Amino acid sequence: MAALPSDGEMREKKRILVTGGAGFIGTHTVLQLLKGGFLVSIIDNFDNSCEEALERVRDLAGPDLSQNLQFYLGDLRNREDLERVFSESRYDAVIHFAGLKAVGESVAKPLLYYNNNMIGTIHLYEFMTKYGCKKMVFSSSTTVYGQPEKIPCVEDSELNALNPYGRTKLFLEDMARDIQHADPEFRVILLRYFNPVGAHESGQIGEDPKGIPNNLMPYIQQVAVGRRPVLNVYGDDYPTKDGTPIRDYIHVMDVADGHIAALRKLFAEENIGCIAYNLGTGFGTSVLEMVAAFEKAAGKKIPIKMCPRRPGDATEVYASTEKAQKDLGWSARYGIAEMCRDQWNWASKNPYGYQSQPPES
Ligand code: NAD
Ligand code: UFG
Repeated sequence: MAALPSDGEMREKKRILVTGGAGFIGTHTVLQLLKGGFLVSIIDNFDNSCEEALERVRDLAGPDLSQNLQFYLGDLRNREDLERVFSESRYDAVIHFAGLKAVGESVAKPLLYYNNNMIGTIHLYEFMTKYGCKKMVFSSSTTVYGQPEKIPCVEDSELNALNPYGRTKLFLEDMARDIQHADPEFRVILLRYFNPVGAHESGQIGEDPKGIPNNLMPYIQQVAVGRRPVLNVYGDDYPTKDGTPIRDYIHVMDVADGHIAALRKLFAEENIGCIAYNLGTGFGTSVLEMVAAFEKAAGKKIPIKMCPRRPGDATEVYASTEKAQKDLGWSARYGIAEMCRDQWNWASKNPYGYQSQPPES
C-alpha cells in the first residue's frame, strides 16, 4: 500500500463539500475537518438539524478556523441550490451525509425516502461530474448487510436490504459502483457505519433527534434526563448472553475520524475505484449491557420495560474491522464507557438538545 499523506501534507487548500453537515455525524466530522486544516462548505436543508448546531461547531473550532466554514441552506433535490454551491467554489472532494435515515418512517413513507435519498444523490453526482469533482465519501450503513448470516460482517458479504431506507443505501452503493465503472476517474469510498453513538467530549454537540427517538442511545438519554419515563426493551428472548440483541456501537468521533482517513486515501491513491469499508469497533454489546454502561456513566438508574421484539431486528451484528485498519490505517479508539460518558455529558448539559426548552409535542 502506498504511504498515505499526513494531514499536514494533505490539507493544503483542500476544500471539502459536506452534504448534511449540520446533522449528527456531519457536525462532528466538520469539526474534525476544520481542525485538520480543511476548508469546508456545507449544504443542508435543516430537515433534521438546525442553525444552532452549526453555531456550536463554529464556537468549538474557534474564530480562526471557523472562517474556513461556509454554509449553504439548500436542498440536494433542488438543482438551483446545487448550481450555486458548485459554481461558487471548486471542491476537491465531497462527503455525502445528507439523507433520511429512520427505518420505520421509510416503511410508512417509501416515496419520501426514495425521493430524498435517491434524487438528492443523483443530482449530487451530476453536479460533481459537471464541475469535475470526482472524489466521494458516501455514508452507507450496516443496513446493507440485512440480517447478516455470518458475523462479523465482512465487506464482501452478500448484500441485502430489508426496508425502503436500506434499499436506498443499497441502490446508492450500486449506483456509485456503476458511476465509477463508467468513469474511472471517480474515486468513491463507501463507509458502512455500524451504530454511531456518543458525542463530542465538550458536550456542546451531539445527536438531537426530532420526535420520539428510534434508536437505543438517544432514547436512553431522554429517559435519563426525565423526558421519557421508561426505556422499552424490544425483546429479551434472543439467543444471546442476556437475551437482548447485540450491536457494534461506535463513538461518533471515531466515525468522524474515519472520514478523514477515507479522504487521505482518496487524495493519495489514483486507482481505488469504488470501495467499501466498515466503520465499527469489532465488538458486540447487548441492549442490557448498554443500559448498564449508561447507568454507570450517568450515576442513575434507567427504568426499563420488557416488550415484544421489534420487527426486523437482527440478533447479533458487529463489524469486521480489518479492511479499514489495513487500507485506511484507521481503527476505533473509544470503548463503551467513553461513548456513554460523552453521551451523558451532552445530555446533561443539553436535556432538550439544541433547544433551550421542551419542544412542542
Ligand atoms: P442526520 O439526520 O442527523 O443528518 C443528516 C442531515 O442531512 C440533516 O442535517 C438533514 O437536515 C440533512 N438533509 C437530509 N436530506 C437533505 C436534502 N435533501 N438536502 C439537504 N440536506 C438534507 O443523520 P446522521 O445520523 O448524521 O446520518 C448521516 C448519514 O449517515 C445519513 O445518510 C444516514 O443514513 C447515514 N447513517 C447514519 C447512521 C446513524 O445511526 N446515525 C447509521 C448508518 C448510516
Ligand atoms: N432498542 C430498544 N429500545 C429502543 C430502541 C432500540 O430495545 O427504544 C433495541 C433494538 O431493538 C435493537 C438495539 O436496541 O436491538 C439497537 O437498536 P437501534 O435502533 O439503536 O439500532 P439498529 O441496529 O436496530 O439500527 C441501526 C440504524 C439503522 C440501520 C440499522 C442497520 O439505526 O438506521 O442499524 O442494522 F438500518
